[in-house]
Amino acid sequence: MAQAGALTFLGLCGSLREGSYNKAALRAAGELAPPDVRIETFDLAPIPPYNDDVRAQGYPGVVQALRARIMAADAVLFVTPEYNYSVPGVLKNAIDWGSRPPEQPFDGKPAAIIGASGGMLGTARAQYHLRQIGVFLNIHFLNRPEVMIAQAASKFDAQGRLTDEAARKLIGEQLVALAAWVRRLRA
Ligand SMILES: Cc1cc2nc3c(=O)[nH]c(=O)nc-3n(C[C@H](O)[C@H](O)[C@H](O)COP(=O)(O)O)c2cc1C
Repeated sequence: MAQAGALTFLGLCGSLREGSYNKAALRAAGELAPPDVRIETFDLAPIPPYNDDVRAQGYPGVVQALRARIMAADAVLFVTPEYNYSVPGVLKNAIDWGSRPPEQPFDGKPAAIIGASGGMLGTARAQYHLRQIGVFLNIHFLNRPEVMIAQAASKFDAQGRLTDEAARKLIGEQLVALAAWVRRLRA
């Protein structure tokens, strides 16, 4: 049972593939969350490509559902790979749908980023692009700790469990910091 005053963080994963390290990192976040935090997820696979003509006629149901979940969450937890030194199209597309009026759901929303990549920089470039997008949307990103899981193949086992103790500790600390950030922004 959730604690009184518990917080809900909505996890959005920028990778759709079944064996995704980022999906696995999001699952790990669910295990590592403090008792007063519940991690929920929203699958971005059914989100259609952004089309402003479609938006003008009304948001598709799945997009409306995503916007409502972002609005209702206490914070958003972006968990994303880096594609070509930036944010994957899947995630950018979902953010674009979330960025339009009325009641832009990211406005003032606390958020944090976790990223896992095969490379040495653990999604650093994508994370800083995401933070830049957040300037326009008025997302209040947590500054630290940053969670950048480099050389991901060596940090997860064959079952998709995050085995790297340093990364697990950092995710736990980030979730505690995000909960404090949410409460601080409300104070
Ligand atoms: C289209 C594409 C672009 C990529 N670009 C980068 C990149 O810029 N930097 C990087 O570190 N890894 C890059 N990679 C490798 C990803 O880090 C790796 O595929 C990772 O496992 C993807 O995350 P996932 O396991 O959650 O799907 C790229 C992979 C793809 C498919």
